[in-house]
Amino acid sequence: MSQRTFSIIKPDAVRKGYTGAILAEIEKAGFKIVSIKKISISRAQAEGFYHVHAARPFFGELTEFMSSGPIVPLILEKKNAIADLRTLMGATDPAKAEEGTIRKKFAASIGENAIHGSDAADTAEFEIGYFFAGYELK
Ligand code: CMP
Repeated sequence: MSQRTFSIIKPDAVRKGYTGAILAEIEKAGFKIVSIKKISISRAQAEGFYHVHAARPFFGELTEFMSSGPIVPLILEKKNAIADLRTLMGATDPAKAEEGTIRKKFAASIGENAIHGSDAADTAEFEIGYFFAGYELK
């Protein structure tokens, strides 16, 4: 049975012109792009999205970065989408990411790490609903 996950191409990757190359990796790995848009978000909107990390020492840095330029939110679909996207992304810290992963190829640091992917079914549901309205879901 197919599953949906949520992803964001982050401001560092959009700024560097990696959007198309990252989308190509995602499609090559068998994901269907269900919904896609390019938007900019405010600091408050970034804080709402990352509310589970509010107590972390990097929360300020993270939300400042995520509101620093355009991002590309995505809804992706395939069998085992949540786990498979996380494998395709590689470790959070690109220095520890496996060869061939998106973060190994395109990310600069643990903060500016090119891509986000939901870590579980309940977070995927929250994250899809945070960025996409019902009429944007196909
Ligand atoms: P993401 O999957 O978007 O979810 C939380 C983000 O916090 C994570 O990717 C990283 O980009 C970021 N993050 C995690 N640890 C650190 C850290 N030590 N310093 C800065 N950012 C971090």
